[in-house]
Amino acid sequence: MAIKKQSLYLIFTVSFLFFFHLHCSTTSAQVPASAPAPTPAGPPDVAKILGKARQYGIFIRLLKSTRVSYRLLGELNNTEDGKTIFAPTDKAFSSLKSGALHSLNDEQRVALVLYHVLPTYVPLSQFLIVSNPMKTEAGDSGDGEFPLNVTTAGKTVTLMTGLTKTNVAGTIYTDGKLAIYRVDQVLQPLQIFGANSPAPAPAPAPGKSLEAAENSEALSITMHNLGLSAVCAITLALSL
Ligand SMILES: *[C@@H]1O[C@H](CO)[C@@H](O)[C@H](O)[C@H]1NC(C)=O
Ligand SMILES: *[C@@H]1O[C@H](CO)[C@@H](O)[C@H](O)[C@H]1NC(C)=O
Repeated sequence: MAIKKQSLYLIFTVSFLFFFHLHCSTTSAQVPASAPAPTPAGPPDVAKILGKARQYGIFIRLLKSTRVSYRLLGELNNTEDGKTIFAPTDKAFSSLKSGALHSLNDEQRVALVLYHVLPTYVPLSQFLIVSNPMKTEAGDSGDGEFPLNVTTAGKTVTLMTGLTKTNVAGTIYTDGKLAIYRVDQVLQPLQIFGANSPAPAPAPAPGKSLEAAENSEALSITMHNLGLSAVCAITLALSL
């Protein structure tokens, strides 16, 4: 009886160690944000890629709440043209005018997200030869609508909306079909944020709630990492 109990305990311990080793090694093996991720089977999932790169929590939430991430998954599965995405960091969103996001209606939110998506795959070197204004998935690139201009100087690629001017700050992901670039400012289309755009409804809770959500997200990520580190340390200690 005693032996049986002991071997049960052993089996339990071994499987526990195995599971957490697996978890620890996948966690520590995460590629740095700038390295291209290995091509997964099926269409690449933009939200997942950004999740691994960290610091894109707000853009991921927008991608999901507008269902654009779902739409991209289907489109990437069905097109040879690919996609290009400009992903603003959380910091970029927090430097928007307070309440700017909250005052947008659903349609404007979708348009804002789609404005960060080009309907073709554009490698960095190709921005030299695209014609202005570029067409984004937000649609009309006419005056006062959703024009997005690009200029290049050496390796610097600069994006201009008429309201925002910012450089492509890095490559998060590229696989020959999908390119995701980091931008340090939210690209603000004239149609939504311009002087002649329809007056936005007053924000229900200016700034505050977005900021709070952001902070709690950062905290939960930190807690998650702390928890994982602790488990990894314990597992390591146990297996020694
Ligand atoms: C991708 O396309 C294939 C073939 O058309 C289909 O079977 C599959 O379900 C699609 N996957 C996604 C995620 O849309
Ligand atoms: C974008 O480029 C077009 C064509 O060169 C130009 O007419 C327009 O003024 C530019 N807009 C911005 C905001 O740079």
